[in-house]
Parts: sequence; C-alpha cells; structure tokens
Amino acid sequence: MQRIAPALREDNVPLDLISLIKTILAATKEISFRVGQGQLSGVLGSTLDENIQGEIQKQLDVVSNQLFKDITLESGFVKAISSEEEETSVAGHETGKYIVSFDPLDGSSNIEINSLIGTIFSIMEAPEGMKAADPDMFKQPGTKQVCAGYVLYGPSTVLALTTGKGTHFYTLDKTHGSYMLTERNVKIPEDTAEFAINMSNQRSWQQPMKNYIADLLLGKEGPREKNFNMRWIAAMVGDVHRLLVRGGIFTYPSDNRDPNKPYKLRLMYEANPMSFLVEQAGGLSVTSTGRIMEIEPTDIHQRVEVILGSKNEVEKCLSYYK
Ligand code: F6P
Ligand code: MN
Repeated sequence: MQRIAPALREDNVPLDLISLIKTILAATKEISFRVGQGQLSGVLGSTLDENIQGEIQKQLDVVSNQLFKDITLESGFVKAISSEEEETSVAGHETGKYIVSFDPLDGSSNIEINSLIGTIFSIMEAPEGMKAADPDMFKQPGTKQVCAGYVLYGPSTVLALTTGKGTHFYTLDKTHGSYMLTERNVKIPEDTAEFAINMSNQRSWQQPMKNYIADLLLGKEGPREKNFNMRWIAAMVGDVHRLLVRGGIFTYPSDNRDPNKPYKLRLMYEANPMSFLVEQAGGLSVTSTGRIMEIEPTDIHQRVEVILGSKNEVEKCLSYYK
C-alpha cells in the first residue's frame, strides 16, 4: 500500500500542491482523532453543560474551522482561504500560489448522534495581480479547481481526492497517522436504483422534481419498471461517498420553502469540490440548467441547486426539466 505523497508524485502533481494537500490533511487527522474520542474529546458539547441549545454542534464546527484556518494560513503556499464559518475570505501570504475553500465540518446535525460527518475542501490557483485580502479571488468557476477532496469521519477515516487525474480513495492508518492509497480510479456505475433526497420537502419542490421522484416511487409498476431504494444521511459527505462506492443519484433541488433561499448547498465549498470528485469518477454533477463547475460565482457563500451521481440516472432526472 502506498502513502499519499508518493501516490501524488506518480500522478505528476506539483510538489508545492502536494505540500499544501499534506498540510490540509494534518488538520483532518486532528479532527478525526477528536471525533473518534466522542464525548471524551470535550468538543461535542455534552460534556460542556452550558450552551446546550444548538451550540453543541457549533463547538466542533468552530474548533475545526480554527484548526483549518491556522494550519492553512501558516503555509506559505496559501494566499487566502474562505470557509463556511467565515463571513468573508481571510488573507494569507501575498506570495502564496493557492487559495483554499472549505467546509470544515459538513453534516453538523450528525455530531450529537455519533453519525457520519466530514470535511470538504477545494483548491484553486490565486489569480495574478490580486491582493490576498481581495475576496474576488474566489470568484472562479469550479473548472479552475486544481484539487478537491473530502474526508469522511466514519468507522474509518476515508479521504476522497482528485487533482484532475481520477478520483482516488485513501484510508487513514491510525496506527501511524498516514493516509494510505486504498482505491485508485474510483468509478461511479452509470446506472443505479438508489436515490437520495430529503423527502420531507416534497411539497415545496418544482413540478419536474415532483414528477421524477413520483416515477421512482412507482417502482416496477411505473414507467421506470424497476424498484428504487432511498437513502438520506443528512451529511453530503456521507451521501456522496456512497455514490462513489456503489452509484446512486443525490439531489438537493430548488424548493420554495423560503422565497429568498431556493437552494441549500453552497457552491464554493460543497457543490464545486463534490462535482470535481464526481466528474473525475465518471459521474455527472449539474443543476437543472447546466454543469455546476461552469457556474461563474458572484459570492463566496452562494447557494446552488445540486443533482449529481450516476450518469444515466442524472440524465434521466434532467429529462423531466426539458
Ligand atoms: O451542509 C449542508 C448539509 O448538512 C449537507 O451536508 C446535507 O446534505 C444537507 O445539508 C442536509 O440537509 P437537511 O437538513 O435538509 O437534511
Ligand atoms: Mn456542509
């Protein structure tokens, strides 16, 4: 089994990018350790008697964000970072070559139930001639990503990583603290009989999504002539990991629960990195009108409709919008 750095060198990933990836992974190892300690770690909240109302989850969100911020900004390669937990971008080194976006702790509502959570990150090159403090550096489409990944803190800690040469899985060997290559060139099956959507929002979806899901639910007796299974982990990392392993379709569609907020997932640190990983594994990642990675961002925290996974099933879903 290969350690991550030699595996990346084999793919001709530039050495400075390998260093940056290793820096980011150092933070994930610490989070993995703390998550594994559960309530003993003192950051899940149950051991902190104060702030019970909703702040239990924030504890680990804040700790993870601080860790990522400190560790990435210390790296001379980083010009700026943006995070789900930061209002705007945070400047690093003027001479840094890269900018990093991250969701330090995805699936926060799963922390208290000891279920799947993760970290998502996306790396782009810093545009020439812009100041480290300028948040506009982040306004680049997902096609400009040079690396994307997530770490899933599950029964084992798994990293899915792409630098544009396929999507690979690494597993954290906790006996010596190294990520080891455990699966090269992950491929999402083109067909599937499994879907992931939060069904409780059904009445608020647009008509095409209502029609598509209705047909899946009709199973063998309906137009799809096969039975579909449903899964919803409530952490995008968990759902996307399942798709990479055995296929499926995942969607957080547009809905009209709140007219000012038609979408839930964030483009920069959720949809774009997941799209890069999914496309590199042969899947599709789109909105109902186009490819997610081609969206020209207008805001670091902008939200987007997401439909991703097995190629043929995503195309089938899109056909309902035509
Ligand atoms: O980060 C947002 C997120 O937690 C995703 O990880 C997950 O897919 C989704 O929201 C869960 O949404 P809901 O709360 O509707 O189940
Ligand atoms: Mn998230």
